[in-house]
Amino acid sequence: GLPEYVKIVEVGPRDGLQNEKVIVPTDTKIELINRLSKTGLPAIEVTSFVSSKWVPQMADHKEVMRGIERHPGVQYPVLTPNLKGFHSAIAAGATEVSVFGAASESFSKMNINCSIEESIEKFEEVAKSARNMNIPVRGYVSCALGCPYEGDITPAKVAERWQTEKTEEWNTSIIFCRKMKSALGVSKRLYSMGCYEISLGDTIGVGTPGSMKRMLEAVMKEIPLSALAVHCHDTYGQALANILTAIQMGVAVVDSSVAGLGGCPYAKGATGNVATEDVIYMLNGLGINTGVNLYTVMEAGNFICTALNKKTNSKVAQASFNT
Ligand code: HMG
Ligand code: MG
Repeated sequence: GLPEYVKIVEVGPRDGLQNEKVIVPTDTKIELINRLSKTGLPAIEVTSFVSSKWVPQMADHKEVMRGIERHPGVQYPVLTPNLKGFHSAIAAGATEVSVFGAASESFSKMNINCSIEESIEKFEEVAKSARNMNIPVRGYVSCALGCPYEGDITPAKVAERWQTEKTEEWNTSIIFCRKMKSALGVSKRLYSMGCYEISLGDTIGVGTPGSMKRMLEAVMKEIPLSALAVHCHDTYGQALANILTAIQMGVAVVDSSVAGLGGCPYAKGATGNVATEDVIYMLNGLGINTGVNLYTVMEAGNFICTALNKKTNSKVAQASFNT
C-alpha cells in the first residue's frame, strides 16, 4: 500500500539553478536555501562541487555551502563527481555528498567526461573516503527511463544482443530494455559501494507510469525499497503520474524542485524537475505525511521566481497566486 510518510528531497538550489543562463547571485542562492530550510523539508541539495568550466552556475559552491544557515534535522547534500569535488565539499563544511552516475554511456561521457565503468571507479574512491569520515553518500542514476543521446532500446534489440553475447545477464534481461538493465546494474554498483539511497533519475522526463513500473520492478528485486528514490523531470508532463506510480509501489523518497525550476546542462531540452509544491499538494491529498508546509514552499518559490524574473512552473503555485 501507500507509504504513510514520504521524504521530499528538494533539489531546486542545485538541479533547479544549474541550468540558469544568467549567473544567480550567491546571496540569492543562500536566501533561497535559508527559506527552504524553514519549510519543514528534510533534505535540501545545496550545490555541486563540479568544474566551473562545465557548470559555471555552480562555481560559487564553497560560498553557498559556507553561507547557509543549517537547521537541525535538515540534510544538506551536495554533488561530488570525484575525490577533488569530495575534498572541496568537505573543506567547505558539507556533511553529506552525492555521486551521480548514468545508465547510458553517451550521457556519462557528455555529463562527467568518462565511461560508466570509469565513473564507478571514481565514485568508489569517494565512497571509501566518505566511509572513513562517516559521511553519508547518496547515488544518482541518470537516464533510468531514457537518454537524450541514445534512442530507446527495445526488447527486440536486447534479444538481438543476446544472440551475439549469450551471457546470463542478457538472457535474464531479455524482457527489459537495455536502459533498464543498465539502470539496474549501475544502481547495484552504487548500492554495494555503500550509497544509502539510490535516486533513479528520469533525466529527460520521457518516462511514463508504464516504464516507471517496469524499471522499478526490476530494481526492487535487487535493492531494498527503503533505499530507493525517484527523481522525475517533467518534460513530457508525466512526472506526477510517474511519482504516483512509484509511491503506489512503495517508494517513499521523492526528489523535486521548488517552482519546478531546472534542467540538465547536458540534456538539451530537458525541463525542470517536478515542482515541489505540486508533489506536496498531491501527497497531502492522498493523506501522506511529508512534514512540509506547502504555503511556505510556495513563498520560497515566489522568492526565487521573482529573483530570476520567471514564471513558476508549479501548477499549484499558479493556481494559488491567481485566485
Ligand atoms: P574532466 O575535465 O574530465 O576532469 O571533468 P579532469 O579530472 O580531467 O580535470 C580537468 C580539470 O577539471 C582540472 O583543472 C581539474 O582540477 C578540474 P585544470 O587543471 O584544468 O585547471 N576538476 C574539478 N574542478 C572542480 N571540481 C571538481 C573537479 N574535478 C576535476 N570536482 C568533471 C570531469 C566531472 C569535473 C566535469 O565533467 C564536470 O564538472 N561535469 C559537470 C557535471 C554536472 O554537474 N552535471 C549536472 C549535474 S548531473 C544532473 O543534473 C542529473 C541529476 O539531476 C539526476 C537526473 O536528473 O538524472 C543528478
Ligand atoms: Mg535532475
